[in-house]
Amino acid sequence: MDNEKKTFYITTPIYYPSDNLHVGHTYCTVMADAMARFKRLQGYDVMFLTGTDEHGQKIEKKAAAAGVTPQEYVDKIVAGIKDLWKTMEISYDDFIRTTEPRHMKRVQEIFMRMYEKGDIYKGSYEGWYCTPCEAFWTESQLKDGKCPDCGRPVYKAHESAYFFRLSKYSDRLVELLKGGEFLQPQTRVNEMLGFIDQGLEDLCISRESVKWGIPVPIDENNTIYVWLDALSNYVTALGFPQLDGESDEKYRKYWPCDFHLVGKEIVRFHSIIWPAMIMSLGEPVPKHVLGHGWLLIDGGKMSKSRGNVVDPVKLIERYGVDALKYFLLREYTFGQDGNFTNEVMLNRMNYDLANDLGNLVSRTVTMIEKYCGGIVPPAGPAEGPDAELRELAAGCRSRVEAQMDKFCFNYALEEIWIVIRRTNKYIDETAPWLLAKDPASRDRLCAVMHNLAEALRIVSILIYPFMHHTSGEMRKQLGLAGDPVWADAAVFDMLGGQKVERGEVLFPRLDVAKELEALDALGGAPAAEPAEEYEPYKDSIEFGDFDKIDLRTGKIIKAEKHPKADKLLVFQVDFGSEVRQIISGVAGSFAPEDCVGQNVIAVVNLKPRMLRGLESNGMIIYACGKDGKYQFAETKAKPGTIVG
Ligand code: MSP
Repeated sequence: MDNEKKTFYITTPIYYPSDNLHVGHTYCTVMADAMARFKRLQGYDVMFLTGTDEHGQKIEKKAAAAGVTPQEYVDKIVAGIKDLWKTMEISYDDFIRTTEPRHMKRVQEIFMRMYEKGDIYKGSYEGWYCTPCEAFWTESQLKDGKCPDCGRPVYKAHESAYFFRLSKYSDRLVELLKGGEFLQPQTRVNEMLGFIDQGLEDLCISRESVKWGIPVPIDENNTIYVWLDALSNYVTALGFPQLDGESDEKYRKYWPCDFHLVGKEIVRFHSIIWPAMIMSLGEPVPKHVLGHGWLLIDGGKMSKSRGNVVDPVKLIERYGVDALKYFLLREYTFGQDGNFTNEVMLNRMNYDLANDLGNLVSRTVTMIEKYCGGIVPPAGPAEGPDAELRELAAGCRSRVEAQMDKFCFNYALEEIWIVIRRTNKYIDETAPWLLAKDPASRDRLCAVMHNLAEALRIVSILIYPFMHHTSGEMRKQLGLAGDPVWADAAVFDMLGGQKVERGEVLFPRLDVAKELEALDALGGAPAAEPAEEYEPYKDSIEFGDFDKIDLRTGKIIKAEKHPKADKLLVFQVDFGSEVRQIISGVAGSFAPEDCVGQNVIAVVNLKPRMLRGLESNGMIIYACGKDGKYQFAETKAKPGTIVG
């Protein structure tokens, strides 16, 4: 069927609704949105999918801490995420939640298909688990004993679990990664090949300990572990696997996916596990996975737990959605990390948007009103710089296409700004205000006005994927009816007779110093306290193990610095029946004199040990904050009382 439109399927990762999203998260969605709008404008039948990844231990814990059910917890955050996308006018075609029945029942079907094929088997898992990342790591993958992705502590976990035979697909994955352009940028390919080279281990795909998940269809004690659940969203949203009485028409239409956009830390899941799952299902693998960089603040990843997140809603309220989208797409290079600073953002808004584009539009419309009664004149004979302007403007469309094909949003925008800056220069060169003084130059003046309006008409089409409001406003001011048509961007001389209409200033000039102060006052970081990240509990121990520990209350009666170690304090602790010497590494938290008279809880049956020449006989219990500061575990009981 030749007249059927070509399809284009693009996805973002599905976000964890564990907290509100920050501007770093919006980066990927804004890119996907620009690409979706661009492809629609080019005439593609686009499917743009985003959503939320709602299961797992982290959500379970956050909900418990908030005193609500996991479902209540995610419902609230997901509503906020949807509001954010509405504010940012993200043009997604579908939003999938992994707690929706349409997803859950298909994930179970996917599990069964893989199980029946022999690609899933039951075993027992032991590994290092990172709760925030919801990822198991092997010993060799840990970095300094911590999670290689986020650097946080991991803990050993083992339980009965189901495994996916990932190793079986090693050769096909190598073939996929080596041939063609499945994964970009290229540096990531080598990284992934390196992973496979170390030997792929079968993947644990279920958890006994996590209740907040999709039940394993054949085992009520297990839930499907988060990555199998999450990655499946890209097909379940399209209706795959087909279930009785339900359509998989979208799947047949849009799969395989053209582009999965993902942050660099989840490239591994998307370029190894995901294609292997798809291979196991006997379906075609996605065409491309693109790994993008992170927005950094002071060189570090923006993240809620670091308290350095930038709230996109505050930026939009102040500068508008187009300005923020423009900045994100113009400033950063796909695949690389980039620093987010308010100053760079404000300067971009001033130079590119207020000066270059905003000025050009308002000057042009004002002059057409003043010199031509507000009506765009027809084309006149070409003179001087006209030919160059026409060529540059009409030729820009294909240059933008070439950059967009490579996901180089910043270079695509730069191409458009070359036209905008050239058009501004054209005004200076042709000096319409002088032409207006001489009645003999009337025709030339009209031709110049026509050319300016034409260049702006073309710009209004080209910027549509990135800033559709601004595009619409420009078109309104130029008297253009209807939506932009991509083909029209390659044609000059379409205008004549339109009535222009001066409107609001597109982008007001910002006083950078004042704005910086205002943004500081608003807080680059969230106004609310950053959410607390809790350490996962250690593995369970037997009651008998705990019972071996003898805990007693005591009172510190003497405290002094260790003569040979700056970090240590030497305490004499009265336990009622005796006074003991106990040494603790807490000199950074207390002055010795402040400790005297302090009631403490201590382990009294720990074998004595020598600490820099002095014996320590027991261990005082402290609460240790994230900042490394200690506090005594308080008690009012008299010295010698048993704690248990
Ligand atoms: N739920 C998983 C993805 C499952 S996809 C089948 C997840 N969620 S996430 O909410 O933690 O992250 C979603 C995306 O946001 C990731 O691609 C991540 O790279 C991106 N970003 C989070 N912080 C970011 C920045 N500071 N900068 C750019 N992108 C960032 O991972």
